[in-house]
Amino acid sequence: MPLNNIDKNIITVRGRERSLTSKQKELFTNLKEYEINVLSLKDSNFLKGKKLFFEIGFGSGEIICKQAKLNPNNIYIGVEYYKKGITQLIEKIIENKISNLKIFHGDARRILMDIPSNIFDEIWLFFPDPWPKNRHEKRRFVQSSMIQTLNSKIKKGGRLLISSDDKNYIAWTLSLFFMENSFDWIADGPNDWQAPTNDYFGSRYENKGIKNDREPYFLKFKKL
Ligand SMILES: C[S@@+](CC[C@H](N)C(=O)[O-])C[C@H]1O[C@@H](n2cnc3c(N)ncnc32)[C@H](O)[C@@H]1O
Repeated sequence: MPLNNIDKNIITVRGRERSLTSKQKELFTNLKEYEINVLSLKDSNFLKGKKLFFEIGFGSGEIICKQAKLNPNNIYIGVEYYKKGITQLIEKIIENKISNLKIFHGDARRILMDIPSNIFDEIWLFFPDPWPKNRHEKRRFVQSSMIQTLNSKIKKGGRLLISSDDKNYIAWTLSLFFMENSFDWIADGPNDWQAPTNDYFGSRYENKGIKNDREPYFLKFKKL
């Protein structure tokens, strides 16, 4: 069964909301300008036949911002739980004069429930919080019910890209995907682990991991 309710006591984010600088507080007050309402996704005038990309937990937003800049004919939507990340992305949107990128603020699990089915060309989950201890498995973003939810939101033939520098998280993810059997794992050769696309840019979290000898792994799934 896809997710239709979430246990609010099970959080998937790590750490806690950090205080904002005065500049960030001001940027946050402008969120309305950059935010998207689920209703717009139900409006065919919004998409106008353009490709739609969705990033879950964008952190400070470097990947989604660069991709939106590089591909002005696509539409990008990012969701992030923490206000700090939201303000960092708003700042990038302003600096780069980007108009094809919109934001959701909140818990992606909750937001996904209201999103129409078969709408995204691609969903990205780059470096979700790994929650490496077994007793924290429930806090991992990737769960069987979430795989079903993500599957229902992606168009047929669309892709889901997941990365992690935690080998256990990758093994956990693959085992759940094999059980669900609703996506094809696109893995043609050893290079498939290295990046999801040719024009992929690393994120801040990813680069921190590389400096600390944590190798990133990329999984690409296609909706059957
Ligand atoms: C380890 S960080 C990686 C950030 C970014 N993807 C990157 O590669 O730099 C995980 C991010 O996911 C966000 N996150 C975790 N669970 C979330 C949820 N349920 N809804 C929205 N954001 C979430 C966290 O706030 C955090 O910014």
